[in-house]
Amino acid sequence: MNAFSHPIDVVIMAAGKGTRMKSRLPKVLHRLAGVPLVQHVLGLAAQLQARSAVVITGHGADQVEPVVLASGQALAVQCVRQEPQLGTGHAVQQAVPVLADDGVVVVLSGDVPLTQAQTLQDLIAQCGGQRLALLTVELPNPTGYGRIVRHGSAVQAIVEHKDATEAQRQITEVYSGIMAVPARLLKDWLGRIDNRNAQGEYYLTDVVRLAVADDVPVVAHTIADALEVAGINSPLQLAELERAHQLRQAQRLLEQGVRLLDPARFDLRGQLECAPDVEIDVNCIFQGRVSLGEGVKIGAHCVIANCTIAAGAVIHPFTHIDGEKSGVTVGEGALIGPFARLRPGAQLGAEVHIGNFVEVKNATLARGAKANHLAYLGDATVGERVNYGAGSITANYDGANKHRTVIEADVHIGSNCVLVAPVTIGAGGTVGGGSTITKSTEPGSLSVARGKQVSIANWKRPEKKPKA
Ligand code: UD1
Ligand code: CA
Repeated sequence: MNAFSHPIDVVIMAAGKGTRMKSRLPKVLHRLAGVPLVQHVLGLAAQLQARSAVVITGHGADQVEPVVLASGQALAVQCVRQEPQLGTGHAVQQAVPVLADDGVVVVLSGDVPLTQAQTLQDLIAQCGGQRLALLTVELPNPTGYGRIVRHGSAVQAIVEHKDATEAQRQITEVYSGIMAVPARLLKDWLGRIDNRNAQGEYYLTDVVRLAVADDVPVVAHTIADALEVAGINSPLQLAELERAHQLRQAQRLLEQGVRLLDPARFDLRGQLECAPDVEIDVNCIFQGRVSLGEGVKIGAHCVIANCTIAAGAVIHPFTHIDGEKSGVTVGEGALIGPFARLRPGAQLGAEVHIGNFVEVKNATLARGAKANHLAYLGDATVGERVNYGAGSITANYDGANKHRTVIEADVHIGSNCVLVAPVTIGAGGTVGGGSTITKSTEPGSLSVARGKQVSIANWKRPEKKPKA
């Protein structure tokens, strides 16, 4: 149960066409901070501990509905179709059959991603289970929006821009598109709205006039931050909202003490946890869940996703890390990159060094192991202090199955070796450069598996014959 005395049911309008996106992808599936717009809104419903959420779909419903239903929010979600789309009032009418009578309905739009839960909680408190509460905002340029018409301080109506008189168009307080209203009243009013207006649409906003006529108090909860209710209609608006959102995330991290070298060149598409004294250079992208330990330094131009990086580790520029579902861990004081790639299941111990053009996947490297140049370690277990030479690879895939390579502690693998798995290199052993190792080796041994060198003394190169 939520913090209010009435259950909350959220209705999310997402049937509109989004023509101005000029995209085959339905508007609400475009992403902000890496997450589809409609999922931001569902996340908000979950934060409100709503009893249910009803998403009104229409345009692109076949694409939108699977995303909505798979969004995995701790929330009962269903989709209801609106076909054709005859306006916002008509949209919410489609939800009436599945809405309970005893709740408070919060109406949201699938293309308004950045509303804060606290704002909606304040709005719901204003509704109090008995009033019609409108979320409003002052806009310097209110063109296109529904205007809040008051008599004295009491809200009388919302007048859509296209229906407004010149005098009404001067009003700068606009309706955000978000309301909280007792379900019982909403259902009654929705049964009484018509489409006699400039656009021939059923306006949800007409419920305000009906509330006034029924002597139900209408309250406006006005917020100062227009970003919270900014809707997206075009790629430009999406890009602008993305930057504004990113800047806020960056500011929050700076306030926590994270040293971002340039908050305007920082992108977080997920959750980032930072211990004290983390430093992040420009143009890095963080995705999924990332945790950075104390004093971690991230160089410029890194993409870092789904991983845990322990204290003191340094990630040099142009490194790509993505643990996907299995995760990646980087140990204390490790040095990674530049130009390194850590893939799912890379587990690097303390003081490990991974250099340029080294790829690590599903491999464990113990403390102090090093692979500094041009190498591949996949499905491998690498012991402490191993030195893995430039150009060496674990041949982990036989075309059908994957096999493991074990490299025990203190092994030295020369340059340009192929370790054909399954194979174990015994502790302290050495593998000569250029070897293709197909059989396990004894601890302490030197293994060389390549054509023997032949040198012919005083050899004369062939000479070109003079032309006849
Ligand atoms: C609406 C409000 C306006 C407010 C503005 C804030 C009405 C009549 N007007 O304007 O007062 O200032 O939002 O942005 O409500 N949708 C459907 N089915 C439809 C029509 C719309 O699902 O038949 C969805 C859209 O996909 C969108 C949302 O409802 O997510 C709002 O629709 P939109 O056309 O943007 O509303 P406006 O008429 O611009
Ligand atoms: Ca609109």
